[in-house]
Amino acid sequence: MRIAVPKETRDFETRVAASPETVKKFIGLGAQVAVQAGAGDGARIPDSAYEAAGAEIAKTLAAAVKDAAVVLKIQRPTAAEMKALAKGQKLFCIMSPYADPSIMQACADKGVDAFAMEFMPRITRAQSMDVLSSQANLSGYKAVIEGANAYGRAFPQMMTAAGTVAPAKVFVMGVGVAGLQAIATARRLGAIVTATDVRPATEEQVQSLGGKFIAVKNEEFEQAQTEGGYAKEMSDDYKRQQAELVAGHIAKQDLVITTALIPGRQAPILVNAEMVASMKPGSVIVDLAVEQGGNVEGAELDAVVETANGVKILGLANMPGRLSGDASSLFARNHLNFLSPFIAEGALALDDEDELVKGTRLTKDGTVVHPNFAASNKNGADGKEG
Ligand code: NAI
Repeated sequence: MRIAVPKETRDFETRVAASPETVKKFIGLGAQVAVQAGAGDGARIPDSAYEAAGAEIAKTLAAAVKDAAVVLKIQRPTAAEMKALAKGQKLFCIMSPYADPSIMQACADKGVDAFAMEFMPRITRAQSMDVLSSQANLSGYKAVIEGANAYGRAFPQMMTAAGTVAPAKVFVMGVGVAGLQAIATARRLGAIVTATDVRPATEEQVQSLGGKFIAVKNEEFEQAQTEGGYAKEMSDDYKRQQAELVAGHIAKQDLVITTALIPGRQAPILVNAEMVASMKPGSVIVDLAVEQGGNVEGAELDAVVETANGVKILGLANMPGRLSGDASSLFARNHLNFLSPFIAEGALALDDEDELVKGTRLTKDGTVVHPNFAASNKNGADGKEG
């Protein structure tokens, strides 16, 4: 079995879907690996490192994927990349079918079996295969580092002969994987951290990291978590109460990090223009949801917006891609951990009854088969856990 690792070509993408370590392991399982020349450039992994691990370096995408049974990528292919793929190939990557169903359909039309790695069920067995977690963890860390860099003052309290430097106040909105890492990172830098979420389970997690939890705790809050562990979309009434609660708090913060996402939907607006206008000059907001529409009014993708009152809103694209070496290693291991149990004698034999295969498979033999997107259920899309 040949495994192809193309060079990513989408905007802002610096990551690569295999590392020399995972190449070696796939070869150890009896596979051959072809890496497109320059695939690791954005992650500072030279072709020679892949070669040393046993990979063949293919000059072009077409050469890399020719006769490959498996194609490992980070992002869904572009329309141009789709042309190189062939019937019967299995493609594993972030497919983003909610944002752009056209590539999923193109895979079906072409007979490529596409698997959306972001749909990996959130169960214990799948933790080591979960690209959302591995990447969100790095995003949460990097959001604090970028925010601290844009903030013109120090983070820890410092008692100096010339006087005391006050600790920074950091507010994290959305305490999933990224939010928890943001809290931990900000605490390590010495900030005073508060956080909010709509899922009750997060209160204890925030406290255990030394943060203070703030939330509207009504009946809706008690039921805000889905069986899959995600947040539901909250009612307008809840959002109004939440906005009232956090408005006064945000005005006193130095760094606000927003991470709130609802699977398959536009991210909720948590910080409106009025709240931004209430913040002090020099304060910073990092909107980690900017690629899903943003949690902050006025945030722009791939831009640092400075408001009239001197607040910087960072809408940085592909936050994990700013740590491309680590992000690639972890993503590559997620791929390896998912596929290796199904590789026997150098061939991939997926078990269609396995819940991880069922959960991630979008297309099979020329048809869209995922329950959230299959034709018979076109309007039933409701999150990753469908
Ligand atoms: P996410 O990226 O979908 O959302 C980020 C956070 O935003 C979530 O905590 C969510 O509750 C929150 N949020 C959504 N709407 C909000 C609003 N209106 N106001 C404030 N906060 C809002 O979440 P992520 O990071 O993917 O984690 C989701 C859950 O999955 C967590 O419970 C996590 O612990 C769990 N998980 C389980 C794994 C496993 O068992 N294999 C692996 C990874 C995560």
